[in-house]
Amino acid sequence: MALCKRRGFIYQASEIYGGINGFWDYGPLGAQMKKNLREAWWQDMIMRPAWGRQGPGGKNVRCVPVETRIIQHPKVWEASGHVGGFNDPMVDDKETKQRFRADHVWVIFAYEETLIANILTQNSERLAAGETLPISIPPTFSVVAGSVTEALRYVIENVREFRPYRKAEWATNDLFDEPTVAMYDKDGRGFVANTLPLIEVLKHYSIDVIPSPATQKTGTLTPPRQFNLMFHTYVGATASEDDKAYLRPETAQGIFVQFKNVVDTTRVKVPFGIGNTGTSFRNEVTPRNFTFRSREFDQAELEFFCHPDESVEWYKFWRDFRMEWWKTIGLAGENLILREHEKDELSHYSQGTSDVEYRFPFTAPGFGELEGIAHRGCYDLTQHQEHSKTKLEYFDQEMQLRLQAEGKSKEEIAQKSKYIPHCIEPAAGLDRGVLALLCEAYTVDPSRPSPELMKFHPRIAPIKAAVFPLVAKDGMPEIAEKLHAELSDKFWRVGGVEMDEKQSIGKRYARMDEAGCPFCFTIDGETAASQTVTVRDRDSGQQERIALDKAGEFLKDKLGM
Ligand code: GAP
Repeated sequence: MALCKRRGFIYQASEIYGGINGFWDYGPLGAQMKKNLREAWWQDMIMRPAWGRQGPGGKNVRCVPVETRIIQHPKVWEASGHVGGFNDPMVDDKETKQRFRADHVWVIFAYEETLIANILTQNSERLAAGETLPISIPPTFSVVAGSVTEALRYVIENVREFRPYRKAEWATNDLFDEPTVAMYDKDGRGFVANTLPLIEVLKHYSIDVIPSPATQKTGTLTPPRQFNLMFHTYVGATASEDDKAYLRPETAQGIFVQFKNVVDTTRVKVPFGIGNTGTSFRNEVTPRNFTFRSREFDQAELEFFCHPDESVEWYKFWRDFRMEWWKTIGLAGENLILREHEKDELSHYSQGTSDVEYRFPFTAPGFGELEGIAHRGCYDLTQHQEHSKTKLEYFDQEMQLRLQAEGKSKEEIAQKSKYIPHCIEPAAGLDRGVLALLCEAYTVDPSRPSPELMKFHPRIAPIKAAVFPLVAKDGMPEIAEKLHAELSDKFWRVGGVEMDEKQSIGKRYARMDEAGCPFCFTIDGETAASQTVTVRDRDSGQQERIALDKAGEFLKDKLGM
């Protein structure tokens, strides 16, 4: 964060007024870097989707862009479910005034096996009748953690052994939903423990036995309360309830509400995608972790519409492509994973969702979501069709011709050639993308004179090259200026080319290392006579000498253009 501020990647919004929680601005380097990320997405998802690969069944991948507004008709958000359901349950710590997302805090309760056995035996009749037992006995021990991994790590470190606990061993009741573990402490005593999000725990237990994540004390938490995450505003001067509107919480809905217009006014044919990028707003109750959870952030979303029978194949196609894509722009390695959601995590309409997750320093050893790839079925178009009373079915002419050729009945042809397409949604966060790329690039190498450097992939690097005269005399600045002008002319579309003649050459290299500039060209005492320059590689620090008039080609090659 210090480097981000110092080098002009990211600043606190309204900093001179003390800042505003959940809002961040980009400085010169950050703004260019984010633009590079958005453009990489645009090029690889819209202009040449999936790098020109063919999709399932050898079909071409075609995508078109839209740019839709932040403010839409309020009914859009009723249809999408955001007005009714876009809520986060929160609990407050009454002592410290800290607020926690109840579904993000994990609690392990451990009870002695004999205690649980007694409760279950004593209540066997109630359990047999299908009743749930509210347990309000103090646990033998409890631990509160920010993630399941953290919670389980505590168990591993603090008990002698543990094994998965099978619910059937005890009784049929839902006190101990998965994941549950049986543990044995150092004295050989057995425990059963369950790991659940705070919100689930609160449903089962009396609030007074839940330790606060802030203090580890019991009795200081409020019951969970719902917060709607949508910002609202008023359209027009009167600011009455009738004029209430929302700032979009996602760019995706703009695509669904323009689906019909795009189909009617362009030549797209299923399967095809519509992409939308732009700013979304969520009144996050606990904005935190730098830009990771902001209240204003940019998304890059694609809605890919396909025939229902092909949707699972397309889901797999986009899921795998998106994972591969993040790797090609610099997130290769063990910090990036693809996490397929469990069946019970999926919405009723979805046949699959996966997240591309990155191990941010603040989530480690866990991971944080960078992008979600969801099979959304026909849910959104159906919702908008119902709420707007506008038909959003797609007429599949190719299907009609095929069925006609196969000699199918008129009824079957009519029925099968009109349908609501299914939708696959790769939804990426550009700010989270920038943050992940910054974290991945940040490297400390104590063996270098200036140990901090940013190892950006050349496509993402905000400055592509720098030109330095070794000293500001002997004709070197003039040659440097000429080379700088030539390179700027060639590369301005993809990023900056800097010229710097102040300070020692070591300091100038260090400045460029911190900015993540991959190549520095230096005009030195030999240049005029031999018409050569040195090129320094940021990551190795190694220099090579190349022909002055080949500098542009060298850079073009290295930038993969
Ligand atoms: N249309 C689906 C959708 O919006 P999401 O998982 O809620 O799905 C997609 O958001 C992406 O947007 C996330 O993977 C994340 O990268 C980004 N995002 C969501 N909330 C964010 C926040 N508060 N701050 C920064 N980025 C956020």
